[in-house]
Amino acid sequence: MDPINGKTYHITTFGCQMNEHDSEVMAGLLSEAGCQPAASRDDADIVIINTCSVRENADKRFFGTLGQLKKQKALRPGFIACVCGCMLQQEHVITAVRQKYPWVDVIFGTHNIDELPDMLRQLEENREDAPLGNEDLIPDAEESYTLAKHSIRSARNTRVIRTLEDREDIVEGLPAKRLFPHKAFVNIMFGCNNFCTYCIVPYTRGREKSRRPEDILAEVRDLVAEGVKEVTLLGQNVNSYRGEGEAGPWDFTDLVCALNDVEGLERIRFMTSHPKDLSDKLIDAFGRLDKLCPYIHLPVQSGSSRILRKMNRRYTSEHYRELVRKLRQMVPEITISTDIIVGFPGETEEDFQETLDLAREIEYDSAFTFLYSKRTGTPAAEDPDQIPEEDKHRRFDRLVEVMNAISAEKNAAYVGTRQRVLVDGASKKDPGVLTGRTPGFKLVDFPGDQKLIGTFVDVIITEGKTFSLTGVLAEEESASKGGVS
Ligand code: SAH
Ligand code: SF4
Ligand code: F3S
Repeated sequence: MDPINGKTYHITTFGCQMNEHDSEVMAGLLSEAGCQPAASRDDADIVIINTCSVRENADKRFFGTLGQLKKQKALRPGFIACVCGCMLQQEHVITAVRQKYPWVDVIFGTHNIDELPDMLRQLEENREDAPLGNEDLIPDAEESYTLAKHSIRSARNTRVIRTLEDREDIVEGLPAKRLFPHKAFVNIMFGCNNFCTYCIVPYTRGREKSRRPEDILAEVRDLVAEGVKEVTLLGQNVNSYRGEGEAGPWDFTDLVCALNDVEGLERIRFMTSHPKDLSDKLIDAFGRLDKLCPYIHLPVQSGSSRILRKMNRRYTSEHYRELVRKLRQMVPEITISTDIIVGFPGETEEDFQETLDLAREIEYDSAFTFLYSKRTGTPAAEDPDQIPEEDKHRRFDRLVEVMNAISAEKNAAYVGTRQRVLVDGASKKDPGVLTGRTPGFKLVDFPGDQKLIGTFVDVIITEGKTFSLTGVLAEEESASKGGVS
């Protein structure tokens, strides 16, 4: 009898779409092993916290959550606490969890997700075998634990730790229990080779590895057969995709072109696109491929070429402007979003002004703005020229004000337009209001019946707000006009 069969689970996910998709895969693996989703975290037999480490506040939230699990562990015998994700790819975090959070049962990293059911079984079997009170007979984990090892079992008889080591191979064919039936994330590559000097991701996700194009195509065809209409291709830098196809290497545009031919698939999105590798070939594809949505997330990080050099981004702000010019020439209605870091070490008021200038000039549809956050082990964390917190915050507020005004203005320009919307779900606040996305990835709210979820509808935009649009279904709009005239 499988010791985990019949248990309930709950996964809390922090971080980016990669993590969200990893959580979908974990849910798929657990379902295959006979586990069921729990109604809430408090009811679950197995709780998994999938962590992010990209900024310091992500770390803080994680340690706060661990404190809550302690209570659950005390209340419920047999409860299993698991932690995984990017934070658990860092030695100092693993050490902290091992030493200060003894109620955590399973610790695993980003390269060990496929081993989750096996780790849980190992834990349960161990728990049953180990006679109560016999902990001292088992070799002390402190001695047997070496971080270079891929798999370490034990630690006080009931702890499983598998983390850190990168793997050569990509494990294909893992199941996934997806959040939406009509749209899906598809990993096309893993890891990152870029080593931007502020960023922890290359250390937590390992080196870049691309999936084989045939595997990606097969996955997308299967998804479409299950009812998926939109895929988002995921990679830290999709533009450097290099897939080993049966007939030779494929680049990212080759992959998107092949996906465009998949019958039944209606929308293709991707993220993230690194400006240094955005090719004319891909820009051309935006003009040609009907399923490729007119939207690009193109993180600029800073408007100052001097800071970009210090960040090791390997493009200048002039090159970035040129890319945007070409994209808009190819697809005038394209929407553009970005990521910007404020207060990178050494950023002067002039550098920051250049970021404001660039933001005003590009007129982004939306932007994710971040306060620079020191990450242990990255070069920028060692830079003596750190910016005082209050300066960072002041610049941040100024930037957000500029960005929000631009977003509001851009969204206001949509009023009166007709937008094709893929309906994602009902609003949490009002079940009579549906939400979905336009081709340009704008969030739209409109009144409608929940049976429309997962379908495409036409919506006439009635209001543009800072972060979303509001509208009415086109048929209802014309019906009401018909009624009046
Ligand atoms: N691979 C993507 C980004 C992944 S991380 C890319 O290169 O575009 C998402 C965003 O987090 C980054 O674009 C950056 O703006 C932000 N970020 C990463 N490290 C950060 C740090 N140390 N401090 C503040 N923001 C950071
Ligand atoms: Fe981080 Fe840069 Fe890699 Fe993006 S490209 S994940 S910002 S190192
Ligand atoms: Fe966070 Fe890891 Fe993604 S650090 S942003 S979850 S790759």
